[in-house]
Amino acid sequence: MSTTRSHTAIAITGKGIVESIQLPTVDPIPGEVQVNVAYSTIVAPDVYMVDGSLLTKPEDYPIPLGLSVSGTVVAVGDGVPRLKVGDRVCAFTLTQRKSKGLQLKVILHHTLCAKIPDNMSLEDAVTIPDNFVTAFYTIFDQLGLPFPLQFPATTAPQDAEVPILIYGAGSTAGQYAIQILRLAGYVNVIAIASSRHHEYLRSLGAKHTIDYRVPDMADRTIRAAGGKVQLAMDCITAEGTMKRVAQVVRPKAKVALLLPIKEGDSLVPESGKMWMAVPSDKNPFGEDIKVMGVRTFLYQDNEYMKEKLMPEILPQLLKENLIKPSQIRMFNQGTFLERTLAALELVRSGKVSGEKVVVQVA
Ligand SMILES: NC(=O)c1ccc[n+]([C@@H]2O[C@H](COP(=O)([O-])OP(=O)(O)OC[C@H]3O[C@@H](n4cnc5c(N)ncnc54)[C@H](OP(=O)(O)O)[C@@H]3O)[C@@H](O)[C@H]2O)c1
Repeated sequence: MSTTRSHTAIAITGKGIVESIQLPTVDPIPGEVQVNVAYSTIVAPDVYMVDGSLLTKPEDYPIPLGLSVSGTVVAVGDGVPRLKVGDRVCAFTLTQRKSKGLQLKVILHHTLCAKIPDNMSLEDAVTIPDNFVTAFYTIFDQLGLPFPLQFPATTAPQDAEVPILIYGAGSTAGQYAIQILRLAGYVNVIAIASSRHHEYLRSLGAKHTIDYRVPDMADRTIRAAGGKVQLAMDCITAEGTMKRVAQVVRPKAKVALLLPIKEGDSLVPESGKMWMAVPSDKNPFGEDIKVMGVRTFLYQDNEYMKEKLMPEILPQLLKENLIKPSQIRMFNQGTFLERTLAALELVRSGKVSGEKVVVQVA
């Protein structure tokens, strides 16, 4: 007699509908591990998928939420180097149903997992994966900065002083971008964020900090950079933020936009309108600016990043205490569904500031 194993997941089951469901529990195949999940996260893309069906098709339902995960390895498939049962890991889940974080058990390809040191909590660890990968991929793949022969860099890059703009640096994506640039040896990072984050962003490695709400943000940025900037990452990517970035970049600059592009000036547009490419009537950038729409879900197309980033580089940085996890807004009260819905509501409200929204899973 065969028995079907199942476990609880919090999933989108239709546009605007999030429910607690049962998913079949499967064993890892070669290359994969099974993890008992402790914590996962709710970030803006979770809200986009729930409310706007962004990047979702009805045939994909049910879609569990949660792009980052932390927990303990409980089973290991063949051909998995480095990981064993009992290891504590954090992971970027990508998009597969069996991997998404808001379920009691996940199956992950080993290249998505980073082993964490004994002195790091699973709460802290879950704040890192999605935006650490996003920042690394944006800087070295999309913006094309030369990857140091060793990471962290042991010698300064040739253009260590080049001004690099991180717009929306209060976001968790921005916080990791600043840290990664520091570790790669770039010393002239200009962080645009609310004043309350300035001291922290300087401690992470920003040289200049400017508030995006001041009317002369553009002038201040150009003065700090000694001219218009050549390299920029818009960590928010809304109509309003692209306009601000466009004011401070020079001809032939490279600008990375974290997709989707949102209507208005906030992470979660009230209208729900978003685009995966810059609409021509909303494009503030000159024709000679190289604009890149970042899709971190594709980062494993870069073989080097696939093999090294989570399996080797992140564990080493954590062991040496070189990456600071983000501040945490914890949801650990009520049922699994209730705390997920409360976390979704907070992110939807646009009131998340400089912190990662974490949901206790088990
Ligand atoms: N396509 C991709 O590969 C990819 C990957 C990762 C993230 N993303 C996208 O990138 C965005 C950021 O993600 P996240 O997880 O880093 O977000 P997050 O940590 O939740 O960002 C919250 C921060 O956004 C800042 N913010 C909101 N509106 C702003 C504005 N108009 N100007 C400047 N800052 C503003 C706030 O800064 P203050 O506190 O300073 O006000 C707040 O701290 C999301 O839209 C996400 O979907 C895309």
